[in-house]
Amino acid sequence: MTDIGLLGVQKTLTPVLKAKALDNRLPDPILGDTYAERVMRRLDPGYDRGRFGTSQLGLVAVVRSRAHDDWARGFLADHPDAVVLHLGCGLDARAHRLDPPPTVDWYDLDHPAVIELRRRLLPARDHCTLIGSDVTDLTWLERVPRGRPVLMVAEGLVPYLPEADVRRLLTGVVDAFPEGQIQLDTVPVWAWRFSRWDPTLRRYDARFHCGFDVPAALAAWHPRLEYVDEAPMYDAPVLMAKAPAGVRRVYRLLNLLPGMRRSTRIVRFRFRETPA
Ligand SMILES: C[S@@+](CC[C@H](N)C(=O)[O-])C[C@H]1O[C@@H](n2cnc3c(N)ncnc32)[C@H](O)[C@@H]1O
Repeated sequence: MTDIGLLGVQKTLTPVLKAKALDNRLPDPILGDTYAERVMRRLDPGYDRGRFGTSQLGLVAVVRSRAHDDWARGFLADHPDAVVLHLGCGLDARAHRLDPPPTVDWYDLDHPAVIELRRRLLPARDHCTLIGSDVTDLTWLERVPRGRPVLMVAEGLVPYLPEADVRRLLTGVVDAFPEGQIQLDTVPVWAWRFSRWDPTLRRYDARFHCGFDVPAALAAWHPRLEYVDEAPMYDAPVLMAKAPAGVRRVYRLLNLLPGMRRSTRIVRFRFRETPA
């Protein structure tokens, strides 16, 4: 793979992108993201040269994307005037996949180096603005229109932030908008603690900075925030239906360990205007 000039946590976008690219090579993909395949090919023309079967173990990350897409699609169908905050977007082509109407204003945010790469590798879209910023520096929120429903999607981002920053982000977004949906994923406390020894994260010189055993409890951070539900990931029916047999077998075994089955939790929250 060519050096794409990313550092530390920024590099964690590549395994997820690769998983999406490989998914698109399946006869019946889970996500079917042609952008991921094109971008991955440009970053690493030989990315799919390895043993196809085992390299598909990353498919579980694709299940996570699909869950976020399905929830986002539902919210945008009900709120065609929404503002979307796609935080820690990496090189994910969610706006292209969901193709929202022009009444939706979409913001893709990531570190400046990642946004620069995005500009080079993904086509621009009307009503879609790129913001190169650390997500924890909340001044970026001043660039976003208020007074409209908001959809915040933070896929694969929260574990990389300290808990105090996650809390400021969530409460800052709830305070800034009249109503909205917040979608994110978290890891449990053990996975956070273990992350300093996780070989994949070590390779990227990254580690987790927070973990939650009960992600629904984040709703207590703001009086207007309500927990809605959780989407399956490691035991998702779509994974069992569409993954190659070898991958299904591995996940069936891993899922026998309850800690493993819930080692990433995809959760959704909502908030509404307080009645006067
Ligand atoms: C695991 S990748 C996920 C990328 C994308 N959401 C996806 O699912 O394909 C994590 C992303 O979060 C970004 N990120 C991590 N910490 C960040 C921060 N403090 N501010 C902005 N982006 C951050 C990284 O640069 C990276 O692109």
